[in-house]
Amino acid sequence: MTTLLLPARNDGRLCPFFLADVVLISCISIDTFSIELWFVALKRGCRAMSLCFRGIVPEDSDMLLRWRNDPETRHNSIHTSEVFPEEHARWFHRMMTVDPSRIAVAELDGLPVGVIRLDWNDERDSSEVSFTVAPEHRRKGLGFRIVQLKTEGLSNVRVLARVKVTNLGSRRIFDRLGFRVVDRIGDLLLYARDPGDAVLGEVSSAFQVVEPGARRVSL
Ligand SMILES: CC(C)(COP(=O)(O)OP(=O)(O)OC[C@H]1O[C@@H](n2cnc3c(N)ncnc32)[C@H](O)[C@@H]1OP(=O)(O)O)[C@@H](O)C(=O)NCCC(=O)NCCS
Repeated sequence: MTTLLLPARNDGRLCPFFLADVVLISCISIDTFSIELWFVALKRGCRAMSLCFRGIVPEDSDMLLRWRNDPETRHNSIHTSEVFPEEHARWFHRMMTVDPSRIAVAELDGLPVGVIRLDWNDERDSSEVSFTVAPEHRRKGLGFRIVQLKTEGLSNVRVLARVKVTNLGSRRIFDRLGFRVVDRIGDLLLYARDPGDAVLGEVSSAFQVVEPGARRVSL
């Protein structure tokens, strides 16, 4: 872990991409990836970085297994045991073949930074969201942005998420996006956002959004 001076926006969130913000300096602990982002941003003239989603490809298999077995992911999962390669291979094959559109990899300027799934649940007549941010890319605002982007178009269906009580990062994300806790089963909170509920969450300009095949949109 390295400590470096980086610009932060006036709401305190990390924003290494805008020189205008340099006046608002705060001391933030960052990892090597953030240093890389900083230099990439400088090289690009401090423009916002592009966050986009793509479908999974066979080459993602090892990466997704690594993210799944990361200790924090396991701790926050319903099933906390380690996933072994054989079991993962079966799961991955299912994902690739049965409705692959429900899972998407988020990329920040071409670097995979997270994965998100939306599963239609007939029983509950709703879509359930689950997601993981790559261990080395956490606490940079990406988890919030990924869930925001993938759920904001779902204003006509109920969206659910099961979150452990101790998972403060996820709880903060769903709270900020206008989800409500509608049930609690043991150490699991059931978050829901219903049609008609306000889709909250201010738009951050730190990450541009690029929909595959679409023009770049500056937010
Ligand atoms: C939980 C997780 C998705 C959060 O993603 P992230 O990219 O690190 O989150 P963000 O940087 O967007 O932070 C969102 C908010 O949560 C807060 N937060 C993030 N991680 C936190 C933590 N471990 N403890 C307390 N707060 C945390 C951030 O400070 C931020 O708060 P703010 O909105 O007041 O600024 C990520 O840590 C992760 O992938 N964990 C393992 C898998 C997992 O838990 N998946 C979700 C299952 S429901």
